[in-house]
Amino acid sequence: MIERTLAIIKPDAVKKRFIGRIIQRIEDEGFEIKGMKMVHLTKEEAEAFYHVHKDKPFYESLTDFMSSGPAVVLLLEGENAIKHWREVMGATDPAQAKPGTLRRLYGFSVERNAVHGSDAPETAEYEINFFFN
Ligand code: CMP
Repeated sequence: MIERTLAIIKPDAVKKRFIGRIIQRIEDEGFEIKGMKMVHLTKEEAEAFYHVHKDKPFYESLTDFMSSGPAVVLLLEGENAIKHWREVMGATDPAQAKPGTLRRLYGFSVERNAVHGSDAPETAEYEINFFFN
């Protein structure tokens, strides 16, 4: 099934100059990049994007971090793109992520974990519409 998902290269990975390596991996994995742009989220935009986490203890810190600098958002398309991209990213915590995954390679902590990906078809639709129309 051909699906679409939203990927974000987070501010930590942009700052560390990992954009090129991550986009190379996206292409090597066979995803079609259907949209791409650099954004600098406001605190309010980060809160809206992560509204499902608003009751979590890390929400404040996460939205501060996500609005702390530029990020790159990508609309990816491919066979089972949501699951495929989550496999390429690896576990949320870089220390738990499998060797070779993006979070293991480029992540620093559970919060500063280099990349984001939609976790389900409904979230993918919300997240894609958030950045692309
Ligand atoms: P992401 O895939 O962007 O989706 C939600 C984000 O919340 C997640 O990646 C992490 O960056 C962050 N997150 C999840 N759990 C924690 C946690 N326990 N502490 C701090 N940040 C977290």
